[in-house]
Amino acid sequence: MNRRSKLIHPLLALVALGAIVVVAAGCGTTTADENRGRVLFEQKCGNCHALAQAGTSAQIGPDLDAAFAAARESGQNSDTIEGVVKAQVESPRPDNGNPAVSMPRDIVTGQDLDDVAAYIGMWAGVPGGAPPEVPGGPGAQVFTNNGCGGCHILAAAGSGGVTGPDLDEVLVAGDSAAQIEDMIADPNAEIAQGYPANVMPESFGETLSKKELEDLVQYLIENTPAGEGKSGGKSSG
Ligand code: HEC
Ligand code: HEC
Repeated sequence: MNRRSKLIHPLLALVALGAIVVVAAGCGTTTADENRGRVLFEQKCGNCHALAQAGTSAQIGPDLDAAFAAARESGQNSDTIEGVVKAQVESPRPDNGNPAVSMPRDIVTGQDLDDVAAYIGMWAGVPGGAPPEVPGGPGAQVFTNNGCGGCHILAAAGSGGVTGPDLDEVLVAGDSAAQIEDMIADPNAEIAQGYPANVMPESFGETLSKKELEDLVQYLIENTPAGEGKSGGKSSG
């Protein structure tokens, strides 16, 4: 054993190790990591596309569950869908009639593209797709289910979206529960400085139940500077 390993050139050892990883992770066909793909999807695609399993709801591009539901029902497998996704990312159809919202080319490449495409191939159009359960209580679950993390950084949720402002920074001491609720339910009433209007979905006021909205606001208060100096985060309103 000892003698043997000394004889193997370090580079060869590395190659051999790589081969083992390939076989273990990809069943021999692919090395894509769907979990990594999910995170990338939330960061790079979820600001434009709805996908139930990712919890994203943006409507700038097509809803990817709707886009692939028929294909999946007619028997197309994950590999086919994966291929369609890769083709679209590498050369997006230019002709949606609105250059302002056309999909940019090569948002992800290489391994990132493999991972995102595999993730979408696994979930797009799958009936009942839903985000996994997360720790942190009901408000954390609402945050994850609704794709807030795809557009916003929030350290407590481990999210890294940069389409909207960093919630650890913009929610400050003094923001009341009622104010934060308005920011979520009526995002265009006041536009955060330096960010575009009409990007944050306007539908949360309707799609979230009263309790979900309350849980979400409470979660944000407890996990950002908005909660500093408050014991319960209660407000009139
Ligand atoms: C800036 C908004 C935007 C982003 C970001 C974006 N897309 Fe798109 N996407 C669109 C639009 C708009 C369309 C429809 C028209 C087109 O093809 O440009 C589209 C179409 C698609 C389609 C084709 C759906 C169908 O109906 O056949 C797929 C698949 C897709 N996008 C995947 C992705 C993936 C994967 C990412 C992330 C790596 C991504 N998109 C990021 C806007 C976006
Ligand atoms: C598709 C991207 C997107 C999604 C999804 C999204 N947001 Fe936003 N959000 C934005 C953008 C862009 C802004 C800044 C423009 C504005 O104020 O409307 C914003 C603004 C905000 C603000 C106000 C910040 C300030 O300083 O005024 C809060 C709070 C917020 N979002 C929370 C959420 C929560 C909670 C969710 C999930 C329920 C969510 N957002 C989902 C893009 C998004």
